[in-house]
Amino acid sequence: MPRLLFVSGSLRAASSSRAVIRALIDRIGTRADCIIADPGALPHYNADVQDDPTVAAFIGEVEQADGVVFVTPEYNYSVPGVLKNAIDWASRPAYASVFLDKPCFVITVSGGVMGGVRAQAHLKYILNGMLAQTFACKEVVVPQSNATVTDGVFKNDDVLDFALANLADFMATLDS
Ligand SMILES: Cc1cc2nc3c(=O)[nH]c(=O)nc-3n(C[C@H](O)[C@H](O)[C@H](O)COP(=O)(O)O)c2cc1C
Repeated sequence: MPRLLFVSGSLRAASSSRAVIRALIDRIGTRADCIIADPGALPHYNADVQDDPTVAAFIGEVEQADGVVFVTPEYNYSVPGVLKNAIDWASRPAYASVFLDKPCFVITVSGGVMGGVRAQAHLKYILNGMLAQTFACKEVVVPQSNATVTDGVFKNDDVLDFALANLADFMATLDS
């Protein structure tokens, strides 16, 4: 069974991207061992800090994952700072970090109609810079995400079906 690490770029309790993660994990069921990272627990990136346990835990989660699934909103046409901060922590040493050759899958979310496509392009560029292996497929985007969350439950079956079909293809490529 592959081990998937889900990483959201939103910290808020009512986050639609976190609701998407919960819906995906629910549908994946026993097909993968799914873990959710907590980028909000990490300190701001500081190269002088070498012994932070939350940083070590996050790097360990990335290292142990067969695949990393990002589900992030777009903030100001790019990725949220909290997500970039988490990625930066796990990105050293350059070109030889836990992201080297790490299979990654990108889903973006937005409250508007664009589904975060600009953040999606930025995130894939960042992953490319770390020599990660980003799964190539049609862009998986979640537009108008807040309108499809009720009481914390994401309800758009068309979006979930499309995301799950591509995630299944991604999981089929993973060594576990
Ligand atoms: C600081 C900030 C910047 C945002 N910038 C964008 C943006 O550039 N494009 C967009 O489509 N939505 C933008 N939004 C709206 C988010 O897509 C929307 O708030 C979304 O619900 C956030 O994801 P979440 O529900 O997981 O927290 C922005 C929201 C915030 C708080």
